[in-house]
This record gives sequence, C-alpha cells and structure tokens, in this order.
Amino acid sequence: MEVKTSLLDNMIGVGDMVLLEPLSEDSFLENLKNRFEHNEIYTYIGSVVISMNPYRSLPIFTPEKVEEYRNRNFYELSPHIYALADEAYRSLRDQDKDQCILITGESGAGKTEASKLVMSYVAAVCGKGQEVNKVKEQLLQSNPVLEAFGNAKTVRNDNSSRFGKYMDIEFDFKGDPLGGVISNYLLEKSRVVKQPRGERNFHVFYQLLSGASDESLKKLKLHRDFSKYNYLSLDSAAVNGLDDAANFRTVRNAMQIVGFMEDEVQSVMELVAAVLKLGNIEFKPDSRSNGSDESRIKDKNDLKEMCELLGIEQSVLERAFSYRTVEAKLEKVSTTLNVAQAYYARDALAKNLYSRLFSWLVTRINESIKAQGKTRHKVMGVLDIYGFEIFEDGDNSFEQFIINYCNEKLQQIFIELTLREEQEEYIREGIEWTNIEYFNNAVICDLIENNQNGILAMLDEECLRPGTVTDETFLDKLNTICAEHLHFESRLSKNSKFLTDHSLPHSCFRIQHYAGKVLYRAEGFVDKNNDLLYRDLSQAMYKANHKLIKQLFPEGNPAKVNLKRPLTAGFQFKASVGTLMRNLQTKNPNYIRCIKPNDKKASHIFTDSLVRHQLRYLGLMENVRVRRAGYAFRQPYEPCLERYKMLCKRTWPHWLGPAREGVEVLMSDLPVPAEEFSFGRSKIFIRNPRTLFFLEERRRQCLQDLATLIQKIYRGWKCRGHFLLLKKSQIVVSAWYRRYAQQKKYQKIKSATTVVQSYTRGWQARKLLRELKYQKRCVEAVTTISAFWHGTQARMELRRLKQEVRNKHAVTVIWAYWQGTKARRELRRLKEEARRKHAVAVIWAYWQGLKIRREYRKFFRANAGKKIYDFTIQRIMQKYFLGLKSTLPSMSPIDKNWPARPYLFLGGVHSELRRIFHLWRCKKYRSQFTEEKKAVYEEKLEASELFKDKKALYPSSVSQPFKGDYLEINKNPKYQKLSIAMEDKVLLADVVNKINRANGKGTARLFLLTKNSVVLADQKTGQVKASVPLPDLTSVSVSTQSDGFFALKLKEGSASAVKGDFLLSSEHLIEIITKIHRMGTTAADREQLDIDISDEFLVQFKHDKVCVKFIQGVPKNGNSVSCKRKNNRLLEVSVPSTA
Ligand SMILES: Nc1ncnc2c1ncn2[C@@H]1O[C@H](COP(=O)(O)OP(=O)(O)OP(=O)(O)O)[C@@H](O)[C@H]1O
Ligand SMILES: [Mg+2]
Repeated sequence: MEVKTSLLDNMIGVGDMVLLEPLSEDSFLENLKNRFEHNEIYTYIGSVVISMNPYRSLPIFTPEKVEEYRNRNFYELSPHIYALADEAYRSLRDQDKDQCILITGESGAGKTEASKLVMSYVAAVCGKGQEVNKVKEQLLQSNPVLEAFGNAKTVRNDNSSRFGKYMDIEFDFKGDPLGGVISNYLLEKSRVVKQPRGERNFHVFYQLLSGASDESLKKLKLHRDFSKYNYLSLDSAAVNGLDDAANFRTVRNAMQIVGFMEDEVQSVMELVAAVLKLGNIEFKPDSRSNGSDESRIKDKNDLKEMCELLGIEQSVLERAFSYRTVEAKLEKVSTTLNVAQAYYARDALAKNLYSRLFSWLVTRINESIKAQGKTRHKVMGVLDIYGFEIFEDGDNSFEQFIINYCNEKLQQIFIELTLREEQEEYIREGIEWTNIEYFNNAVICDLIENNQNGILAMLDEECLRPGTVTDETFLDKLNTICAEHLHFESRLSKNSKFLTDHSLPHSCFRIQHYAGKVLYRAEGFVDKNNDLLYRDLSQAMYKANHKLIKQLFPEGNPAKVNLKRPLTAGFQFKASVGTLMRNLQTKNPNYIRCIKPNDKKASHIFTDSLVRHQLRYLGLMENVRVRRAGYAFRQPYEPCLERYKMLCKRTWPHWLGPAREGVEVLMSDLPVPAEEFSFGRSKIFIRNPRTLFFLEERRRQCLQDLATLIQKIYRGWKCRGHFLLLKKSQIVVSAWYRRYAQQKKYQKIKSATTVVQSYTRGWQARKLLRELKYQKRCVEAVTTISAFWHGTQARMELRRLKQEVRNKHAVTVIWAYWQGTKARRELRRLKEEARRKHAVAVIWAYWQGLKIRREYRKFFRANAGKKIYDFTIQRIMQKYFLGLKSTLPSMSPIDKNWPARPYLFLGGVHSELRRIFHLWRCKKYRSQFTEEKKAVYEEKLEASELFKDKKALYPSSVSQPFKGDYLEINKNPKYQKLSIAMEDKVLLADVVNKINRANGKGTARLFLLTKNSVVLADQKTGQVKASVPLPDLTSVSVSTQSDGFFALKLKEGSASAVKGDFLLSSEHLIEIITKIHRMGTTAADREQLDIDISDEFLVQFKHDKVCVKFIQGVPKNGNSVSCKRKNNRLLEVSVPSTA
C-alpha cells in the first residue's frame, strides 16, 4: 500500500487551496472539480476543510482510515474531515482548548453527515470503557431520534434538517466523553400542517405509519394508509433509498438506548398520532341567529379519537375550536371563530403540539446525556444548522428568513474568527500584519438584527403594536425604514432603483444576503412571528389527562394566567442565535464548509455554476486570499526542519541546535528572497506558495540526489564489500595456492631426495652387499675349497674304501659268477644228461614199441580193427551216457526238453532213451498219485480217448477238474430227501437242461449218476422225475461241436423208454458222458456203451424217430445255443461257430 507522509505527496490537484497557483476563481473551481472527479472530496484552505458532497458512499470512512488519521498532524496526510476532527480533539485534550466545529453550507451540502462523521471519529479515538462507551452510544444515538422528528424530505435534500442543532460534547481531562448538551434552534413547524410541492412532512409520521405493528397502530387509532391523513403530502410520500419502516425500528432502538422509558415512547407516539388526527378535523360554516359566523366540526370521529388518545374531554376541545376568549385586565370576552379561524386554530395547535414535543424530546435527551458532576469540562461543540435556502420561485417565507439570518450570522462569525484567528496568530508569532480587503457581511446582519431598525425588531414592533397589524403594514414599515439600506430591495421603497424591477413583486422584499439575493414574501411574517396559540386551546390541552401534553402547555394552567404577550418567534431566535454566537466565540473554531456539487442529488456530477456560486457566497476565495495575504503557508519549526533539512549541508543530516536556528540556517542557505518568509516564535511563515513549491521541488530533487547518494554509497559499500571480499578471497586463494605449490615443490624435493637417498643407499647397500657377498663368497670359497678338499680327501678315502669294497665285491661277484657259471654248467650238464636219459627212454620206448608193434603186428592186423572199433564205440558210448547223465531234463512229464543227439549213429538210441526216460518219469510221477487222483486221471484219460479230436467242446474240458458232485447233494439240505432217495453213491450231480421233446425248449433238471442209474429230478423240489437204470442206456449221442447237447438213447421196450430218449444239455457234458461210459466199462455185466459223435443223429421220442441236427449259426439274443423243433422229424440245434 502506498504510504503518504504529507498532504503534499501524490496530490491530486492541490490539497490546500492556499497553495493554488495562480489563484483565481477558475483555477479554484478547476482544482475542486479535478479533486472531486478523483474522489478527493476534501480540500483545505489552511485549516478550513472544504467538503464536497459525493452523494454516494466512499471507502474513506473505515476504521482503518480512523486509525490512519489518529494522532497525525493536520498536514501530514491528504485532506480529510478526520484530520480536522483529530486536530480539534487533540487540541481539546492536550491543550485544554474548548473547540467548536462549525459546519456550514447550503441545504443538502452534507452538513449533517459531516457532523456525524466528526462525532463518530471522536467516539472512535477517545477513551474506552463500559461507562464511556455508554455515553458515546447515547450521544451518537441521539442523532436518529432528532433526525426522525426534525428532518424531512425537501426538494434539495431527502434528509434535510429542519431545525438547527448545536451539540456540546463534554470531555474529562483524559479526553473521555462525559456527556453532552443539545441546543435546538427554531424547528420549521409550518411543515407540520403544510409542505411545499415535492416535499414531505417530518420523517416520524411516515416512519410510524410504515413501521409500527398493527397492534400499536390500533392502539394509536391510526391507519397505515398515508392518504387517510390531510397533513401528509402524498405526492412524495415514498422516498427513494429511504426505508421508513426500518428507520422506525432504528428510532425506537435509539430512543431505548438514549434512555426513553417505554411509557414515554408511547406518549410521544400518541402525540404524533394526535397531530395526524388533528389534521383530519374539518370545519363547516354554521350561521348563528345573531348573524355571527360560526364553524362546526364536520365529522367528530377524528376529534373523538384524538381526545381519547390525549385524554381530553371532547366538549372542551370542541369548544376551544369554536370560541376564542380574550382576557383583558378584569374582563373576559368570548368571540366565536369562523371557519378560517377554526382552521387557523387547528393548525396552530398542531404546529405548537409538534414543536413543543420536539423541544421536549431535546430536553429529555439532554437529561439522559448530560454530564454528571459540576467540575468544568472541556467542551467540543458541533454546529449543524439548516443550510442557506432560497426558493427560486420567490416563495421564501418567515422560515427561510430565519434560516438565512442564522447562516448570515455564521458567515459573520466565520469571517470574524478566521480573520481574528489569523491576526492573532501573526501577533502571537510576532509577525507584522497588513490588513486584507474582504466582504464583511456584518452590514447584512445589522439589517436583520439591529435592535432599533433591524427587520426583526420592526416585525416585533408591528406584532406588538395595537391596532390593525397585517403583513402589508409590516412591509410598509420595512419600506420606509430600510429603504436606504444597500442590501434591502423593495418596489415600494423610496429608492427608485427598484420601481421598475418586475421580478420584485409589491408584496415582497429582497435581501442581498452574503450567499445571494433572496426574495421574501411578506405574507405570514406577522402570524409566524406571533406564533399565536389561542389560550382556550392551551387551556384545553392543559386539562388533558395525559402527562406529556400537560407538560407541553404550562401556560394553559389557569392558576398561572400570564397576561403578558408571549415572546415572538423572531425575538426568541435572535436571542438564541446571539447566545450561540457568544458561545462559539469563546471556543477555538474549526470550519467545515460543505459544498453541493449538483442539484440532482447525483454522484459524479459537478455543476460548475452551482459550485462557483457557493464558493462565491461562502467567501472561500476571500478566505484563501486572507490566508495568503499574510503568509500562504506556515509550519512549526520542527516538522519544517525535518522536511527540508536535506536542502542545506549544515542541517543535513542532523541539526543539533534549536529547530528555529536550524530553519534560519536552512533558509539563509537557500536562494529564497528574505521577504518571502518570516520567522515567528514557533513557526516559519512562507509568503508565497511558489516558495513552498520551490522548496518542495528542491526537496524532491534533493531526495532524488539523496536517493542517488544513498544508492551511490550503498553501491560503493556493496562494491567495496565485494572487493574486500574478493581481496580476502584472493589472499586466501593465493595462500592456499602457495601452500599448495610449496607443498608440491616440497613433495617433489622430498621425493627427489628420497630417490637420491635411495639411490645412494642402494648403491651403498649394493656395495655393502657386494662386499658381504664377496666375503661370503670368500667364506664360501674357503668352505668350498675346504669342502672340496675334504670332499676330495673323503672321496679319495671313499674311493679307496669303495675300491676296497669293490675289490672285495668283485672278488665276491667273480666268485659268485664263477660259482654260478660253475652251477649253470653243472645244471646244463645235468639237464643234458636228463634229456639224454629221457631221449634214451623215449627212444627206448619207441624202440620197445616198435619192437612190440613189430612183434604184435600179426595179431593186430587180425583183431585190432574190431577191437579198436569196439573200444572206440565203447569209449564213445561211455562218453555219451556219462554226458547224458549230466544233461538230463527235469522230472516233469510235461518237460519237452531233451539233449541234442551227439552222434548220428546214436539216433535210435537217443530217441528211445528219451521215450524210456519219459516213461520212467511218468511212472515216477504216477507213483506219487492217490487213488482218487488216479481215478480222476483215468477219467480224464478216458474222456480224452472218447472225445479228443472228435468234439470241439473237449479242449475246454481238459483244464476243468471232474468234480462230480457239483450240487454237493449230501451237504445241501435242500436235496436231503433226494440224497436219501438215492440208493447208491452219487457219482455225479449237476443241473442239466432237459430239452422238451415237443418244442425243443429246455427245463432245468437235477442230473444224478450213480453206479447203476441215471436220475433226473426236479431242480426245486428234488423230486425224482425219471430214473434210468444204466443197463437201459444203449448209447449216447453228441455233436462234434462245442455244444453241451447229448441224447441218452434207451433200450427199446425198456421201462425207461416209455417217453422216449432223453435229450439233455449240460456244461459238463464231457464229464457226464465219460462217467457214464466208465460205468459201462467197469461193469462187467454190462455192454459197452456206444458213444456216437456226429452232427446228425436220430432219437426216439415216444413213437417218433426225430433227427437232431446241429448246425452252425449266429447266436441269437445272447444265447449261445438254441434248440428248436422244426417238425416231427427234425429238431435243429444251432451252435455258434467256434471261429
Ligand atoms: N460524506 C458523505 N458521503 C456520502 N453521502 C453524503 C455525504 N455527505 C452528504 N451525503 C449525502 O447527501 C445527503 C444530504 O446531506 P446532509 O443531510 O448532511 O445535508 P445538509 O447539509 O445537512 O442539508 P440540510 O441543510 O438540508 O440539513 C445525505 O443524505 C447523503 O445522502
Ligand atoms: Mg442537515
């Protein structure tokens, strides 16, 4: 954020008009405009603040701003109302000077806002604490209450103050607020009954109707609708940006804070309501019999309600509106009121009621905010009076006259105090002063307030004069007495100047105020000045059963009848203004001069002519001139020296002596003419703004130079620092480098020395070594030589010894050799001898053999062949048998191995031997058999004989043992009966299929074979179905195939053959047939049973001979064999092919 240190820094235009160069009305205006356009609404003329109304909220009234301006010198920061408030507050607090803040300007220029800003600033910067805060809050909250009752919307200002207000805020020695006193000046009460076009009545009426609750309104007998009330103008009842309802709540709240009791607030509201009701009371003419004009109330409802509100007897008030009682010294005269008089009385009552209520409010607020204790307090007065007002259409009345008179007085005091203050300052500071020409409005003030021939005095005179007094008589009087006055203008005055001025009507007079000419209409002056309220009305009011009303009309008390005429309004006002002026003169004034930038209440619009007019009548140009006539600028020595000390070498950077001397030295050193400045006691005075600007310019340059110097020094310092650092670094670096170089050199020398040393040492060592080696070699040589010598000696000895040994050995060896040679020779000889002996023996044997062979040749030749043959054969046989013995195969009859035949001629023997061996081992094998096993094998053998290679079923039966009793008939309890029935031992028991002779289908039957018979029995019951004695069996027929069918053919004519032959089928066919056959074989008495094996055979079924034919076919339904009776002659058995 930019920080300002002086109002001269970063100025927009010129912050202080005194410094304006060149000074002219145009440049003044231009400067104001320029600043206004940049939102700089405040400008100074010395210590006077010019305030432009921005008509919008600016962000310059924040708590931060308050802090910024707090305890800062007036010229230190850019112009602000806070600077003035701070200055006033500090000189009050620190210098014990009573202050007054005079805020002037025309209506809508922002006086009230300015006064509030000042108060809020002072409240913000002064002390804090519970009590202090309460006081502050009460002081601040008095504003909304008074504004509600005393402000109204006018054509100039939506919140125009219609009364003058001066508030003294009292502070203790610490600067903490203790309380305050408010003085109010002449409320514009005519507004209560009538408002100019485009204006409103006082805010409170609208606020009450808009903001009060329905219940409250009902209590007050009011309607929310404004149009129901005659006293409320309707055309501008609603104001833009004004929220009456919200403001009502604010006012209620403020009243509470200020200390109003609830019943007091209620009473106040009742009075407000009563005024509204009063306005609605209307009259109509009523003629009496005596011819006098009377009036009558049209509709008594409002009157009734009003009386109820205020607790007044209706008849009393009704009468007061009809009669007027004039009391002379001893007698009372009562006259009736006509309609106009009744209306006059009604309005007068309304105005009085309201203005007295307003005064009561001020008194009540004062009661609350007044400071406790009687010690003298420091006082800060804030004056916010209604602004100068001119109605352009000449409709200015008594109120405007009073308002403008008040402003005239303020202007007067401004001129006086400004001038006086200025003068006093020069005197105080010991500076020579030359008078300045300016317009002094004292002459206008005199025109109005002169006790002998002033307008107010003449008005009073007229009002008090017996006889007919009218506004015309008053105007006549003015015309005669003030005709000569330079600031008074009238058509009827003797001064012929205005005779032809048609802008000046006959019923009017014109006053040339400081702020412009104002045309006043004389009508109403007398009445308004009299401010007459008929006694009947005040008495009626006094009679009211309402606490507040009673208080407001004390003159109505019949006990205190005062026959004296009440003081006129003009007189009262003049007196209070006089008191105010006297009061203000005792205080240190601070001016805020408010300027209105435009007539449209709009922001950003700057109407040159309007502002020019204001700056003219406000005398701002004169103000600047007065300020500049002496010296345009002044400043205490200390801040001056502080600001400009850099312009002189002797004062820069420090001046140790008194500040004044420093400034003197400073100024003498500068090329400024001596008449341009003066030295006061505590301040330096600069005559011409140019000089100040010159100083400022020099200062700016100097600051630049200083900045450059600082920069230069800083850069120098920085560079020097840098250089020193570099230098230091360089020394460090070079030190390090030198050290490094020396270190390197040293290391080089050291290593060279080491090398040289090592070489020397090496050389020395080598020398030594050589020496040592030499010595060693010598020693070694000696040793060697001695060793050699000893060696030689030893060897020689050894050789000698060896030679000796060798010699000895050689003798031994030679001896051994000799012995060996001798032995070998002996051995050879012996061997030779043995060989010879053997050879002799062999030869002998050969010889003997030869001899023998020669001798036996004759024998040999006759038998030798056969003998040799036999011998050889014998030898071979021997060898063969012995070999066979060792290569015999195992004893298993099924072992088919047999050694190979060695000689061809032994072929027959070999196979015979094999056979014999096989038989022998079979015998051996058989010899091990038991009887049962033997029988089984016999059966098997028989089966083989019977079926081998004849029936395809046979091979599968070989491996099956012949079990015989498959049913275990003896053990099975099921067949117990059957077993008992059998006479002989059952040799075979099995389940067979008996083929039905008729259809070829099979039925399971038990088949039993004993040694005598074949029995067929029922499988389930065991009942014997057929028993065939074996002798009845002639033959058995079977097929060649793998089926189990067999036919038992019976002897013709036997008992068994009644039904015919049996055709059966069994899985154990081979066993059954073999066993049956054996029975026949073993029984000596029986014939051999024939076994017929063929695929077609005949059987006898009863009387038929049926051919059973076996064919090879495809098995059906999983059945292996199927049997079918084809016809009487043929029964076909289909057997699956074995392939
Ligand atoms: N400093 C300000 N900032 C913003 N708005 C402002 C400021 N001063 C004045 N105004 C606006 O201008 C309006 C009129 O100001 P103010 O009531 O203070 O005028 P006044 O001089 O008291 O007039 P009157 O003499 O009629 O009482 C205010 O209601 C407000 O809208
Ligand atoms: Mg105001």
